[in-house]
Amino acid sequence: MSQYFSGKVVIITGSSMGIGKALAIHLCSHNARVVLNARNEEKLTSTKDELAARGMEVVAFAGDVTNDEVAKNLIQFAINSFGRIDVLVNNAGTSMRGRIETVNPDVVRDIYEVNTISPLVLSRYAMPFVKESKGHIIFISSLAGLRGLPLISIYSSAKMALTSLADALRVEHQSDHIHIGIVYVGITEVEQGKNTVGADGELIPLDPRSGFYVASTEQVAVAIGNNIRNRKKKTVIGIVGKAFYFLNRYLPFVLEFAIKRSYKKSQKLYN
Ligand SMILES: NC(=O)c1ccc[n+]([C@@H]2O[C@H](COP(=O)([O-])OP(=O)(O)OC[C@H]3O[C@@H](n4cnc5c(N)ncnc54)[C@H](OP(=O)(O)O)[C@@H]3O)[C@@H](O)[C@H]2O)c1
Repeated sequence: MSQYFSGKVVIITGSSMGIGKALAIHLCSHNARVVLNARNEEKLTSTKDELAARGMEVVAFAGDVTNDEVAKNLIQFAINSFGRIDVLVNNAGTSMRGRIETVNPDVVRDIYEVNTISPLVLSRYAMPFVKESKGHIIFISSLAGLRGLPLISIYSSAKMALTSLADALRVEHQSDHIHIGIVYVGITEVEQGKNTVGADGELIPLDPRSGFYVASTEQVAVAIGNNIRNRKKKTVIGIVGKAFYFLNRYLPFVLEFAIKRSYKKSQKLYN
């Protein structure tokens, strides 16, 4: 990772836990200055204190990034704190389960707000500063953003929208020398307290995950760091992720067969 991140100012949305927190630790350990964000102020402060106690240069801004005013203020807070923005990582996101026949339309809007609209709005506010630093805007997507997946169709379509957003911005800003990256995260370990959302907006706690195909949050953080440093257009994480990407691209009928099989097994869970 060399000195690339030394002194760079990085905003990571949704960084009080999980992948966002692991990324903050990874980049701070390479001397980045990080702006943390999440809604729950107590948990965010505890994360900030934990990192600061390890000698890391962090500040924290509590707020819901789906609120436009909060998004604007988060960007301004980074400028007030450090005077520049080198990297915006649009990481805050929420998954959901459910069939569209049963889903509450307000939940659909919430899922799109956090996974699609807030990354777009944050990028809009950060853009002048990222242009100035010739920096990076990163979108954290999912394998579900590479191909529509049943029973998580709303989350899947919300993440898929980030691909076209990244592709379009990359061309619009080609002469600004900024990097637009997208990272497709596969199955990752679940931190205690992580939830998904059900069809009526209820929080569903996720069970711990294990197995060779489960990436650690640290592995995901390293892959995101490499995407930034190497200015890569896209990164697909893990063996399962790479197999998924390959099949989707070159043998889509094989992937479709596998998804249909898995759907038959799991559909009873989400009626
Ligand atoms: N974990 C996986 O297996 C996996 C797989 C594919 C893709 N991803 C993607 O990776 C990203 C991170 O996932 P994760 O598993 O690390 O999530 P996580 O453990 O559930 O953590 C989510 C973080 O985002 C914050 N957050 C949620 N909504 C927010 C909002 N509206 N405004 C500000 N902060 C918000 C949460 O804190 P508060 O609740 O306090 O706000 C928390 O800090 C997401 O975009 C997710 O879709 C994850």
